[in-house]
Amino acid sequence: MSSTYKIITYGCQMNVHESEKIAGMLESEGLTPAEEAEIADVIVLNTCCVRESAETRVLGNLGILKKAKERKPDMKIIVCGCMTQAEGVAEKLKKRCPFINAIIGTHNLNKIPVLLRAYDKKTQIEITEEQGINEKIPIARTSGINAWVNIMYGCNNFCSYCIVPYVRGRERSREKKNIISDVKQLINDGYKQITLLGQNVNSYGNDLNGKTENFPSLLRDLSALDGKFRIKFMTSHPKDILIETADAIAESDKLSRFVHMPAQSGSDRILRLMNRKYTSAEYLAKIDMLKSKLPDVGLSGDIMVGFPTETEDDFSDTLKIVTATEYNNLYTFIYSRRSGTPAAVMEGQVPISDKKRRIRELIDLQFAIGNRLAEKCVGNTYEVLCTEYKNGKIIGETNCGKAVTLAGNKELIGKFINVRITENKNSKLYGVNTL
Ligand code: 5AD
Ligand code: SF4
Repeated sequence: MSSTYKIITYGCQMNVHESEKIAGMLESEGLTPAEEAEIADVIVLNTCCVRESAETRVLGNLGILKKAKERKPDMKIIVCGCMTQAEGVAEKLKKRCPFINAIIGTHNLNKIPVLLRAYDKKTQIEITEEQGINEKIPIARTSGINAWVNIMYGCNNFCSYCIVPYVRGRERSREKKNIISDVKQLINDGYKQITLLGQNVNSYGNDLNGKTENFPSLLRDLSALDGKFRIKFMTSHPKDILIETADAIAESDKLSRFVHMPAQSGSDRILRLMNRKYTSAEYLAKIDMLKSKLPDVGLSGDIMVGFPTETEDDFSDTLKIVTATEYNNLYTFIYSRRSGTPAAVMEGQVPISDKKRRIRELIDLQFAIGNRLAEKCVGNTYEVLCTEYKNGKIIGETNCGKAVTLAGNKELIGKFINVRITENKNSKLYGVNTL
């Protein structure tokens, strides 16, 4: 019987997709997926360190795996992802958890097969600062309908709270021809919705020779490909989103009218401290641009509360920007101190009780906004891609990123249908197939 593997993933879409690459490498070594971590021969923890809570969960899981390994001593445990690349963490992990077989940094993912073959009793550490792009990693995709494609890696923005530029390195864009050939292949393989991934997709191409490419031109080239499919992308930094991007979306029915553009805060003072490089007025001007070019645009964003020195007035500016933007979906975060970032050593850290009260207020406000927007959808008809069959119902996604539940059978999965929205229940949309 072949050896089995289990990957446990923490964090963002980028990590979820990276786990598909890890699975691809393990499967090309002859391993097969295990039902549960406890019985797997190889366990990979693909970690996140954007907030402390993600790190705590990784450490908790390592405690459980230690016990599993006592019962199954030949189990191999590999820890990779953002947490391992953070300053000093690999050495600390090695000391604290000597039962880990290998600790691999974000730039060394392709070393996994080699490390598996050269199995050592001591914890091996593979970390480098050298940043590149590896085009040759096989990918074991997990869904027959949705696929992710990296268009770039890393980030140059150094928002003062964020660990990502330190653990993911500088921006590196993939060559356009490689992205196009991946997307073509995915369409041929039957994928219907392809999400382009990058920490800041709007700066795609800035690092390529002579700046010959930019994000709108990539979108235009992808939307010119044959077939019925939908392209999405995330994340958009507000300072870099171009009018041409909105124009490209407006001109093609293959590009989703959904934009994830985090504001982080509505206070100009806090935005300056965060090193976000825009004001709340500039952010709202970008939102207005998107709404005027794409009247049916679906918006989502990230907002953080409790950044150092945030006052009640700053927070009320955040409530204002959220009210003015009208997000369909908002991801809300409590600021988490990340060692090595400028904000971690700022004076005026906000007490947790204030952070919690503010996030509750923000969530309540967003719920009311989201619900009001959802109510407005009732009676409208949208093009919906059917993505999932659950509890006897079909779940689909509109061309502006909204989830819809409707009656239908499994055969609808992967089909584009027209759905009339009949009901909104607490921000959840229900509809009927009008075909
Ligand atoms: N604390 C809390 N939230 C953070 N994010 C990034 N760094 C931190 C931090 N230190 C949030 C931002 C970002 C999202 C992916 O995670 O809102 O947009
Ligand atoms: Fe972090 Fe800012 Fe880069 Fe986003 S843009 S990954 S928040 S540094």
